[in-house]
Amino acid sequence: MRVLSGIQPTGNLHLGNYLGAIRNWVRMQDEMDSGSQCFFFLADMHSITVHEGREQRIRNVRDMAAALVAAGIDPDRSVLFNQARVPAHAELCWLLNGTARIGWLNRMTQFKDKVGKDREGASIGLFVYPVLQAADILAYNATHVPVGEDQKQHLELARDIATKFNTDFGVELFTLPDPIIPKESARIMSLRDGTAKMSKSDPSDMSRINLTDEDDAIMQKVKKAKTDPEPLPDNAAGLAGRPEANNLVGIYATLAGTTADAICAEFAGKGFGAFKPALGEVLVETLRPIRSRFMELRTDDAALDAILEKGAAKAAAAAEPTLRAAYDAMGLMR
Ligand code: ADP
Ligand code: TRP
Repeated sequence: MRVLSGIQPTGNLHLGNYLGAIRNWVRMQDEMDSGSQCFFFLADMHSITVHEGREQRIRNVRDMAAALVAAGIDPDRSVLFNQARVPAHAELCWLLNGTARIGWLNRMTQFKDKVGKDREGASIGLFVYPVLQAADILAYNATHVPVGEDQKQHLELARDIATKFNTDFGVELFTLPDPIIPKESARIMSLRDGTAKMSKSDPSDMSRINLTDEDDAIMQKVKKAKTDPEPLPDNAAGLAGRPEANNLVGIYATLAGTTADAICAEFAGKGFGAFKPALGEVLVETLRPIRSRFMELRTDDAALDAILEKGAAKAAAAAEPTLRAAYDAMGLMR
């Protein structure tokens, strides 16, 4: 079993990133048996599809590395690195550009969502983003790729590219990866609008809980979170049509490691005046240790760089045989 996943280092980590992605990585790492390996990386090569100044980009990579370590990724047990330090990603992407079809990429919904109406003005990088993602995965022959629901299509594309490459060149080189999408796939919504996802790009800071928020800021945001005047129902079915209530109960259940039904049973008939302080408390207790580790780690750039460099060396060695075989299969002398 080879687990691999990536996250774009785009700054301002929030509760959605933690519950939707990072926490699952930590779980997989912790449940790993001895014959298996985990690769987690910062997709800084993907992040060039969003314009960012040099200094900010450097900061973002270190911050995301600090956040992952603070959240429980152990650089001694998992291979933790940033893509730019491992040229195999860009190299294999180029090779796979010969295999991927324009028609396949045209169907990618994330690309369509991101470009909106201005397709002609979009960068080529954004269009081939899923090919680089396929290279990320296939370079390591990853078998299990923990991702959010929105990445399912990119995983299918990686499988299609792998299959076509293997067929076209008559090799059994690439392993077909399986997406691991958590069942209770936490989709954390905005605290101001239960129908919009919590996001770093929301202009209102009150809409999200940042990993850097202090205890009292967290309590305030939960207290001010949008709700409805109804009391909590006695089971989760009663949350239908109540997106804000549903979101808050969902966050509580996810943090407490239980179900929305169990939380509803506990708070049945009570109003949000009683529920919110309890939720705030669980959030504060969960995030406090992560925040304090994060704040400490991010003051030591040299230590963070050392972690990433060490991870990159391990990653490069792991990718090398596959990369070499891909060049060879294509008759490219290296
Ligand atoms: P943002 O939406 O804030 O820009 P990204 O798109 O950079 O976040 O997502 C980084 C990771 O966090 C992805 O794996 C994504 O699935 C996850 N993620 C982001 N927002 C949420 C959310 N509101 N709920 C659950 N997971 C999320
Ligand atoms: N595209 C992914 C996202 O936006 C990040 C990513 C890049 C990734 N490369 C990957 C995820 C490889 C899994 C495997 O969340």
